[in-house]
Parts: sequence; structure tokens; C-alpha cells
Amino acid sequence: MIFLTKNFSKENLKKDRKVLGKAWNKTYNSYFGNIQNINYFIEKALPLLPKKTKLKILYPCSAAGLLGEELVKALAKKGIGSGLTLVEISKEHLNQNKNPKTKKNAVDVLAFQTKEKFGAIIMRSSLDYFPTRKIQVKLLSKISRLLEHSGIFINQMAVMPSEEERKLADKIYNSNKKIGKRHFQLPKEIKELYENSGFCNVRKIGDASKLVITEKEHSERYALGRKEIQKIRNLILKIPAKKRPSIKTTKKGYALEFAFPIFTASKKP
Ligand SMILES: C[S@@+](CC[C@H](N)C(=O)[O-])C[C@H]1O[C@@H](n2cnc3c(N)ncnc32)[C@H](O)[C@@H]1O
Repeated sequence: MIFLTKNFSKENLKKDRKVLGKAWNKTYNSYFGNIQNINYFIEKALPLLPKKTKLKILYPCSAAGLLGEELVKALAKKGIGSGLTLVEISKEHLNQNKNPKTKKNAVDVLAFQTKEKFGAIIMRSSLDYFPTRKIQVKLLSKISRLLEHSGIFINQMAVMPSEEERKLADKIYNSNKKIGKRHFQLPKEIKELYENSGFCNVRKIGDASKLVITEKEHSERYALGRKEIQKIRNLILKIPAKKRPSIKTTKKGYALEFAFPIFTASKKP
């Protein structure tokens, strides 16, 4: 399993080579660098965080950790001290983080080892990088083990609203060799997925802005050519338009609209 795990993460990393490091915050029309998107997550997270004098925050799959750094700043404004630990497979991403106080681990999160436990674990747009339900349970179980007993997990994840659309989105990503492998979430499965991974009190706390990805964004990120775009269009066109309102074909290509709910959960006692 470790062998398999390493393989898909390294493959995904290779496919992300055009967006590593500085380029990340500009990717997908700057969705992840956008301060309003960051502030929305923080606004939803702040009231739920354990009230501690020094809160330990873990941020797996962090890229350079901008979301975590902004959360630390927001806590400081409220007089709450916190420390941030990043776990990110790409060194290039981590090198962009210049905060000497932040701990940086350039490692596959599934291989991350520590004796520490954390009061808060945050994640955004990364669960789908773990391309099967089984591997997602493995990741989430690891995250639940890293939480303190009173700790909290807050995660924003890319969702397709119906079974048909989720299946199609997974197919689009997994059928193209240039695009990273993904397994997106289906709203009705989230609670069970978490509960099978050591969590309880699973609930939605907000809906961040939707993420719309067209052939233009995919081409910029993965250098897709005309033929590959056409292949994706053909996959989409196999499903009647009525059954896939979030996945459309357009004149030149296609548009995928992901919902981006934020969920919280605590560790099972
Ligand atoms: C869509 S990006 C999200 C980055 C960041 N959370 C944000 O909101 O801007 C997913 C990140 O997960 C990282 N990643 C993917 N698989 C990983 C793994 N197995 N271990 C650690 N990081 C991983 C990628 O390198 C990438 O930086």
C-alpha cells in the first residue's frame, strides 16, 4: 500500500509541475490566493477553534501555507497565540513560505511521522488528490489520530452534487494522462466517510465560492492540447445535459463547476 501511495502522490506532483511554488496562488484564476476566499474560511473556522493560550495548528497539503498563515494572524488579532505546522509533498511550494516560526515538513502526508497532537487541523481542496475512497479513509484516519481529544478538523473540499456528475468528474480527471488523478466528494457520502475515519460531530459550516474550471484553466495548468480537450468534451457529451448541470460543454471546450463546502468534525472519543 505504501508503494501505491507513493506512486500516485509522486505522479500527481509531476503533473503539477507548471503550478508549483510561486505560480500556485495565480492558478485557477487565483482562487487559492484570493484573500476573500481565505477570509471566508477563517470567518467560519475562528468561532470553532479550541480556546487555548497556544493553539497548535496542522495544515496538511498546504502548498506554501497561505491559508494557515492568515489564520495565525487572525488568531493573533484576537490575542490568541498559535503555532503552524505545514505538511506538503512539494519542496517548491514550501520554499515560498518565509515565516521562520512555521514548521515545514516536505513529505507525503501519509508518511508524516510525529509524536505531536494538534488542537486544530485545517485542509482545503486536497482530499480529492487521494484518488480512491479507501485512500481517503486512510488519510482522514491519520488526520483524526493527529488531533488532540478536544481538537477540531476543518476541511474545504471540492464537491459534485450528484452521483452522475461526480462519476463524470472523476472520469475526466482519471482518463487524461496529463491531469492529476482525483476522487471528488459527493455530499451524501461525506458524513459516513468521516465517521469511518475516526470522526464524529460532522457538519457543514459554510459554502465557499464555487470553483469553475474550464478547458482554459486546465490547459494553463496541464498543457492540454486540442485533441485532449476534444476527448474530454466527448466524455461529457455521452451523458445527457439534463443529468449534468454542473458539467457543461461550451463552444470551445467545457466548464466544470465544483461546489466548495467547508465541514467541521471532532475526534471520536
Ligand atoms: C489543490 S492544492 C491545495 C493547496 C492549499 N491547501 C490551498 O488551499 O491553497 C493541493 C495540495 O496538496 C498537495 N499534496 C497532494 N498530495 C499530497 C500528499 N500525499 N502529501 C502532502 N501533500 C500533498 C499538493 O502538492 C498541493 O500543494
